[in-house]
Order: sequence, then C-alpha cells, then structure tokens
Amino acid sequence: MISMWSFVLLLTLLIIPQWRQAMAMADFNVLDFGAKADSRSDSTAALLATWARACGSKIPATMVVPKGTFFVSRALFQGPCNNDLRLFVQGTLVADGGDSSDSEWITFKYVQGLSIYGGTFDGRGQALWACKASRRNCHAGFTALTISQSKDVVLSGMRLMNSEKFQMEITYSQGVKMTGVTIIAPQHSPNTDGIHLHMSSGIAVMSSTIGTGDDCISIGPGVSDVWIEDINCGPGHGISIGSLGDSPGEAGVQNVTATSVVFTGTENGFRVKTWPKPYATYVKDITFEHATMVNVQNPIILDQNYCAGSDHCSKQSSGVKISGVLFNDVQGTSATPVAVKLDCSRSNPCRGIVLQDIRLRYSGGEQSVAQSFCENAQGTTSGFVIPPSCL
Ligand SMILES: *[C@@H]1O[C@H](CO)[C@@H](O)[C@H](O)[C@H]1NC(C)=O
Repeated sequence: MISMWSFVLLLTLLIIPQWRQAMAMADFNVLDFGAKADSRSDSTAALLATWARACGSKIPATMVVPKGTFFVSRALFQGPCNNDLRLFVQGTLVADGGDSSDSEWITFKYVQGLSIYGGTFDGRGQALWACKASRRNCHAGFTALTISQSKDVVLSGMRLMNSEKFQMEITYSQGVKMTGVTIIAPQHSPNTDGIHLHMSSGIAVMSSTIGTGDDCISIGPGVSDVWIEDINCGPGHGISIGSLGDSPGEAGVQNVTATSVVFTGTENGFRVKTWPKPYATYVKDITFEHATMVNVQNPIILDQNYCAGSDHCSKQSSGVKISGVLFNDVQGTSATPVAVKLDCSRSNPCRGIVLQDIRLRYSGGEQSVAQSFCENAQGTTSGFVIPPSCL
C-alpha cells in the first residue's frame, strides 16, 4: 500500500508541473515591438524582434500580427526555435512595390513544427510586371513566401497575392501541409507560379484556390511523396511536373498524386514538361485523377519538347524517363482539338501511361471532335476513353 501511495504521489509531483507548463502560452504581438499598421513605416525590424522572442521561448509561443496593413521590406525568419511556434496573421503584409533585387520577400528557414494561420501577403508585383512587359532591364523578381530547409510546417487559411515571381516556394523541406490557401495573381503576370516545389518530400496541398499567370502548382527536381487534393486552378498554366531536364544532374520526381481538381480556362490541365535536352533524370509513379476541365487548352499533356521563352531551343530528344503515369476520371471540355497530347522523347519513350475513364470534348464547335496525339508513348487504357486513345 505504501509503495502504491508513494507511486501516486510521485506521479502527481511529476505530472502537475509539466501539465501547468503545457497550459502556459506566451503571446508576442508585433505592435509591442514597434510594428506600425500604417502601410508605410517599415515593420521588418519589429517583426524580426517579435520572432526572436517567440522563437526563443521555452514554453509554447504565439506570434500575432493583428489587423491592419504592415509594410515589410524583406524578412528572413530563422529557426531552429525552442518551441512549436504558431504565427497568427490577422492583418496584411505588403511589399514595397518597387524594383528590388531581392529574390525572396518573406522567408522561413531552418524551422521545425511551425504553424502559420491566416494573413494576406501582397507582393505588389505590378511595377515589376510593367517593367518586364516594356522589355526594359528588370530584376527577376522575388518569391513572396519561401519555406526553406524546414520540417513539419503547417500553413492554413492564408492569402497570397501579386508576388513579383513565384507566390510560394517550398525548397529542401520535408513535411509541409497546407490547407485553405488562396493564391491570386493576374492571368498575364509573368512567371507567377502559385506554389513551386523543389527538392522536398511529404508535401500536401489541400482545399485551395489558385489562379495566377503561370502554373498553379509546379513540381521541380527532387520532389517526392506529394498529395494535392481539392484544388480550383485557373487562370494559369495548370498543375505541372517540371520543367525538368534543363541541366545535368537533376534529381527525379516520384510519387505525386493530384486528385479532385477543377481547372477553369487554364492553358494546361495535368502536365509533365521536359526540355529537349539530353540530361537524364526521371518522373515516375504519378496519379492524376478526378478532374473537371472547363475550356482547358491542353487538358492532358506530356510535353517532352518543352521550350518556353527560349528562342534557341535545341531539338535533341529529352533524357528524362517518364513512366507510370495514370490519368483517371478526367472529364470536361478542351479549348483546342487535341485534348490528349502524349509527346514523348524519341530516346526515352514514355512507359506505363494509363488512360482510364477519360471523357473530353472539344468546345470549339458542334462538328469538331476532340483528338489524341501520341509520339513515342507506350501504355494501356481501361474503361471509356474519349477521344479514342492513340496509345
Ligand atoms: C507516396 O506519397 C504519399 C503521400 O502523398 C505517402 O503517404 C506514401 O507512403 C508514398 N508512397 C510510397 C510508396 O512511398
């Protein structure tokens, strides 16, 4: 009996302080560190000072950006932190809207267990796009939100808009989950990909709306284990793997699923794009399914002769091996007659392409029917396939 009671006592003594500590939360509000919601004063230093305190806290900490518009010139938030920090953004962060040489605007680096909720992030890219349109000598532009060399990050309910270049990039990171994200840039803004993934794994993008001037989601070299679900994409260039094979030694892309996507008025639906260059790498184990295409120029496209924005493309055959790509339950309308385009490499034909339950119609006229195009593509079909497959 005595030993049991001392055991209970010991347990109580051990648990209560930890429980109390777990309930304690430290709140750090950027206004207390000098941030000004006047959209003009640079609040960067205040945000970084708040971050330093919240990140250094030994008990769970919350950093709060309240309602209002805060000008932030360029902010790099670095970990590692002493706690699983939560960042609540109720207000709007705006960039300066000038022609800066920065390639990133808001960056989170070396963080683990960070969650970011809400917020509007306005990159104010209009001046840079105007410069690019006038063909003057302009900077390349920045990515509005970058998650770099980080782990176990959650992004929820944020709005990203008008970044000069990519709206968001995830690079050299593992385990990034985002839900309820809204990303907006004008249809003709150059290079404004919604979410770009690079050298990362375990990425989920769910229940989000993305409309930009470039790919809604683009998946670059060295990306694996990606889950994309319940996305509205458009305007933009669709969901793309690539472009790949631009330079030697690129890592491949593997195990990507995109499901329940509505594409509206986009240039592409589901796409894999590789440069016509000999550099070897691979794309494999890809599932593209349950999509509705609304007036999409290329609803299904494997393009191994991708050569955008370059006047002097080599006409070599691509060294990228594409295998195991399933297109399942893809329906709706194509804005061009070729609804299914499988344009693969001469030296590395595509293998294991599966078309299953495809029903695409050309929206261009009553008499016109949709067609398929195949070059160096091997695979199978099942269920109904309209337009008829050329595999
Ligand atoms: C593929 O990726 C998913 C996440 O999207 C993951 O759950 C699954 O384990 C991965 N499959 C393999 C074979 O690695």
